[in-house]
Amino acid sequence: MSADTVPGGNDVSGGENRGVRERREPAESRLQPRLAAPQDVLHRELAYHEKLYSGFAQAHFARPAVRALRAHMAQRILRMTGAGANSRVLSLGCGIGDTELLLAPHVREIVGADLSPAAIRQARADAERLGIRNARFEVGSEAPGRYDAAIAIFFLHHLADAALAELPGKIRACLEPGGVFYSLDPSRDRLSGVVGRRLIPGLMKKYQTADEREMEAAATAGLFRRAGFEVRTEVYDFGSSPLAGLLPGWRFGYRVARALDDVLLRSAALRRRGSNFELVATHGGRVV
Ligand SMILES: C[S@@+](CC[C@H](N)C(=O)[O-])C[C@H]1O[C@@H](n2cnc3c(N)ncnc32)[C@H](O)[C@@H]1O
Repeated sequence: MSADTVPGGNDVSGGENRGVRERREPAESRLQPRLAAPQDVLHRELAYHEKLYSGFAQAHFARPAVRALRAHMAQRILRMTGAGANSRVLSLGCGIGDTELLLAPHVREIVGADLSPAAIRQARADAERLGIRNARFEVGSEAPGRYDAAIAIFFLHHLADAALAELPGKIRACLEPGGVFYSLDPSRDRLSGVVGRRLIPGLMKKYQTADEREMEAAATAGLFRRAGFEVRTEVYDFGSSPLAGLLPGWRFGYRVARALDDVLLRSAALRRRGSNFELVATHGGRVV
């Protein structure tokens, strides 16, 4: 289940499935096409996530620590993108839309797209149940329109490299000038990955798709720069998201870990080993 917010998910998971993920290479070469064809990756991702969203994810994402993590993420996204009451927001790979439904009250409209019909059914049902009318969810990899902000939460690292390479251009085409793209993905340098692979390798493997992999912030930023974005990257967390995934019932623990992260991440050495990195790309640069 890849996720960030599931046991062994993004934050504590490893990428054991392919040797290519583990090789230490110059930053740019780490995003060279992998062996799998994009269509094969799509099929595997779909099969995996249909199963994930058939009940387990819904239960897991409703746990207190995961809810607290989502609330923190939503505030962070609003701050980093500058999205507000007049903004139209696109969310790629939105899953069951739990982050998007937290964002909805703060923006004009939010549109989520995901490969998984099961996820989209859940997102629509939750929007209906909560009486949220400015959120729309569509099955697929895109939702045509013009947006002030686009987000991709734990999504980029699920794409085949060819699809990832094309994505910045597609996002640029649907963003208004000055629009902002925000993504959050597991870092290949994270300490939590090393610890997780040692201590709970089976759990980490179980909760990952065959194709997801940790990513390198500088190489990912390069893809967006070449598509004409101004880009910066930040480290989102050190131990708090992995803890929420491992101990989803422990909200207090998550809050303490989050507060600790805010202190720990002031150290450049610890930032380098952080769990997930954020990429903030502003539509405004020149295509290179
Ligand atoms: C790790 S989950 C993250 C979901 C959600 N953003 C969250 O934070 O819980 C990755 C999501 O990407 C979706 N996905 C994977 N490949 C996709 C693609 N090519 N197009 C659209 N969605 C895709 C999966 O179905 C899954 O819901």
